[in-house]
Amino acid sequence: MASVIETKDLKKTYHTGAGDLEVLHGVDFNLVEGEFVAIMGPSGSGKSTFMNILGCLDVPSSGTYRLLGESVKDLSADQLALRRNRYLGFVFQGFNLLPRADLLENVSLPLLYAKVPSDKRRKKAMELLDRVGLGPWASHRPNQVSGGQQQRAAIARALAADPSLILADEPTGNLDSVNSDEIMKLFIELNEQGLSLVVVTHEPDVAACARRLARFHDGLLVEDSPVVNRRRP
Ligand SMILES: Nc1ncnc2c1ncn2[C@@H]1O[C@H](COP(=O)(O)OP(=O)(O)O)[C@@H](O)[C@H]1O
Ligand SMILES: [Mg+2]
Repeated sequence: MASVIETKDLKKTYHTGAGDLEVLHGVDFNLVEGEFVAIMGPSGSGKSTFMNILGCLDVPSSGTYRLLGESVKDLSADQLALRRNRYLGFVFQGFNLLPRADLLENVSLPLLYAKVPSDKRRKKAMELLDRVGLGPWASHRPNQVSGGQQQRAAIARALAADPSLILADEPTGNLDSVNSDEIMKLFIELNEQGLSLVVVTHEPDVAACARRLARFHDGLLVEDSPVVNRRRP
């Protein structure tokens, strides 16, 4: 299987007014195509910092990060943005949909940035909404649908560029358990179609849906093991 993520002795130091703060102390983490990993760990343990680096939103202070076999070390900001748009899909706790645009327009947005012509854009966005079960809600605005539906629209948007990997930081953090399960069902389905996923979560029930669990503590990966008795909502 092709390597999607490979980090070796990855470290991150933030330079703040109060001095330097090392928050990742040397993380080795690999993910091959088709994996579904949940990341857990207490607040402040470095999960979001790690996800930001995986997402090419930030760069490591030392160590290596290879995305799809390529080291990000010497890439410019523009080159990082290109990798981000081409290979990665992001899902956030707060959905981050445009409130004044309907779901179809929200999902179309990355296609607009990618300069896909408008007729193709519409067709593809509609297919994506159908794929996440939101076809009938295409012309609704975010505030006219449930939180779970908003997050599914955000997932459809993340899928627009046919990414190799979805990175989700607390994707069910704003959802009740029924809506959370809806999202996890969709992630399981997408993973079974071959998509690779990394999902940060505080909730054991959410992590139990992944195939593998990685646990951070104080900037170190302290556990990385297969999920036994995987939960299927
Ligand atoms: N931009 C930043 N500048 C300085 N310190 C930061 C920054 N982002 C995060 N931190 C600190 O790094 C540590 C890890 O944070 P974070 O990666 O957000 O952890 P988690 O997502 O596990 O809660 C925390 O102590 C946090 O305060
Ligand atoms: Mg965080």
